[in-house]
Amino acid sequence: MNAPTDAQRMEKIVSLCKRRGFIFQSSEIYGGLNGAWDYGPLGVELKRNLKNYWWRVMVHERDDVVGIDGAILTHPAVLKASGHVEGFSDPMIDCRTCKAHFRADQLAEKKGVRQCPNCGGKDLTEARQFNLMFETHVGASAEESSVAYLRPETAQSIFVQFKNILEVSRKKLPFGIAQIGKAFRNEINPRNFTFRSREFEQMELEYFCRPEQGMEFLEYWKEERLKFYENVGLSRANLNVLDVPDQERAFYSKGTYDIEYDFPFGRQELEGVAYRTDYDLSQHQKASGKSLEYFDEETKERFIPHVVEPSAGVDRTVLALICEAYTEDQAPNDKGEMESRIVLRFSPRIAPIKCAVFPLLKNKEQLVAKAKEVVRLLRPDMTVFYDESGAIGRRYRRQDEIGTPFGVTVDFETLGEKDPALRDTVTVRDRDSMKQERIAIQDLSAILLERLR
Ligand code: GAP
Repeated sequence: MNAPTDAQRMEKIVSLCKRRGFIFQSSEIYGGLNGAWDYGPLGVELKRNLKNYWWRVMVHERDDVVGIDGAILTHPAVLKASGHVEGFSDPMIDCRTCKAHFRADQLAEKKGVRQCPNCGGKDLTEARQFNLMFETHVGASAEESSVAYLRPETAQSIFVQFKNILEVSRKKLPFGIAQIGKAFRNEINPRNFTFRSREFEQMELEYFCRPEQGMEFLEYWKEERLKFYENVGLSRANLNVLDVPDQERAFYSKGTYDIEYDFPFGRQELEGVAYRTDYDLSQHQKASGKSLEYFDEETKERFIPHVVEPSAGVDRTVLALICEAYTEDQAPNDKGEMESRIVLRFSPRIAPIKCAVFPLLKNKEQLVAKAKEVVRLLRPDMTVFYDESGAIGRRYRRQDEIGTPFGVTVDFETLGEKDPALRDTVTVRDRDSMKQERIAIQDLSAILLERLR
């Protein structure tokens, strides 16, 4: 079942992303570059937090996974062996009336007649295959020998370095190699904000195992990845697992799950978890003539490992996090009157700014000095935003809109002016409940860190 779409909600999210500095159109002052996006000061923090959390749970917290950071420029032989040069294409149709290009599956049909979704024209070409890889030239000459590709997925450098990593890490099956990095696809029709871009980032794990373990690890990784999405704040109700039918899977895959999210523009793929058998390593062994076999010391067998691949999109997950977090509700202003507010209810774990610090009044030197001291204390442990301008309610509101989970206020109690017992304590306001509690400055960092883990 497809999720209902909500174009208005999506418009508000896109506009908030620009207004508050999460995501900008690339090259905007020159009219924009279609399919490319720049992450602003808050977007880059959100994206990093997501990638760091993925790296933490997929690599650091495990004994059986190591990392790699491969090159983007890829030797054509790699992508010939993997099948990308021949087959990494989408069927494309042109409209002869408005000259627009479309993926064949994006065409509209009216009473059984194919129509251009741009101008409604019916004069369309037949579908032809369009290779999605970006080709470039390495070195000064533009001869064929110097052709290289921008990688269309991060996975291939993992397969190509399999033997080196096996040797240096001395891992035994089952074990995995993880990578986060840019990938490039010349998408015919980039759309839905950052969802389908031409330049994007992937977080991929290639988990190698014995052939008879493939199906079991497919199930295992599907479950692990669902847990991951819940742990970064996506609700299970908005996630869906699609068991990709035989006829839609890559021919070498024995099983693939798509983890989908209900975006305001519909249910769409966040991640593919695919059992790719021994296809990739076998292809590279054949094409390179180098052995990519594994020697099992216990059974004395030599074989090409099978692989299960959870492959997630960074940008798509960032977009899902923003869509999930976006909320409009009512909150009291400084006069106690209810006002509508926009809140990004990010999980504290991935929120771009963890804590905002406010002196109650900006013209009271002692409050300002104390607030700056609190900022200095917290900064080594978390991202902190200092704000002294405007009424306190407005300052909270600005932080709610960017999803800052905690607001710390330095007031006259902090200075011990009313009750000496409260000297060097601050109020901590929770973004979602808007409740405030008093915490001693010396405990602040440890208490907040516990809530951010
Ligand atoms: N190595 C396997 C692989 O690349 P994929 O399904 O083509 O599989 C994996 O891509 C993930 O990469 C997708 O689930 C999606 O999150 C992300 N992705 C793919 N194409 C994208 C695009 N044009 N824009 C943004 N993200 C994309």
